Amino acid sequence: MKGAEEKIENLYKLCRMGIFAKGGKFSGLAADSWDPKANSVRGLDQLIKHRELGEDSVVLELGSFAGVSSELFALRCEKVYCVDPWCMVFDDADSPEVAELYAKHPFPLPSYERQKWSEDRFDERCKLYDNIIKIKNFSFGAVDSIEDESIDLLYIDSNHDLEAVRKDILDFYPKIKMGGILAGHDYSWGGVRRCCIYLQDQLGQFKKYPDDSWSFPPKKRRQVQIPEGLKE
Ligand SMILES: C[S@@+](CC[C@H](N)C(=O)[O-])C[C@H]1O[C@@H](n2cnc3c(N)ncnc32)[C@H](O)[C@@H]1O
Repeated sequence: MKGAEEKIENLYKLCRMGIFAKGGKFSGLAADSWDPKANSVRGLDQLIKHRELGEDSVVLELGSFAGVSSELFALRCEKVYCVDPWCMVFDDADSPEVAELYAKHPFPLPSYERQKWSEDRFDERCKLYDNIIKIKNFSFGAVDSIEDESIDLLYIDSNHDLEAVRKDILDFYPKIKMGGILAGHDYSWGGVRRCCIYLQDQLGQFKKYPDDSWSFPPKKRRQVQIPEGLKE
């Protein structure tokens, strides 16, 4: 795509929340307590290159928020399906520390406006790309919208609660082509981490990236299993 590298450089300067970082720190919506590395798409770009995804790759992103990661996929890959209900901006996940962080977060808008803000940002950013397909739904409601074995990269960045991550992996793993990649964001969150560690026996060793993204080696088997209530 023309001018893609310049646009990607600009995306590197953005927080995934969709605002600019000033002097190396994110300000305003994303407070200083938020990890700038985890909020950058630099590591995600490393994942794309490491797993050799490119112009002919189809991506399915679960959880798109303001569309920063979606735009990177659109610039690097052929097509991106973006699934998000845009009605629950912050999930508390299963970590009390993160819930506490959210509670202190200086977000200036009431809930409904927060939701609208993220969808407006997504629409504004992504209307420039005709290879982005917006699916406004919860992941579990969108399972039938995606064909089996049609996806080169599944990137899970939706609800990070253990059972939600488990369900997303089990529901969407069949959507990945043989040789395709299972990946996601926020490895540091308990539910995500537990699923990744458990899956290693079936899928091989996963790789972690500086933005807290993770990915497994190319798909070789049709199904995976994860029991309910995984413990650390
Ligand atoms: C961390 S944000 C995504 C950030 C985005 N991937 C990025 O890097 O710029 C998480 C998003 O997941 C969405 N979400 C939460 N539960 C979901 C679900 N069950 N299905 C799809 N999206 C969900 C939220 O609405 C929110 O927009």
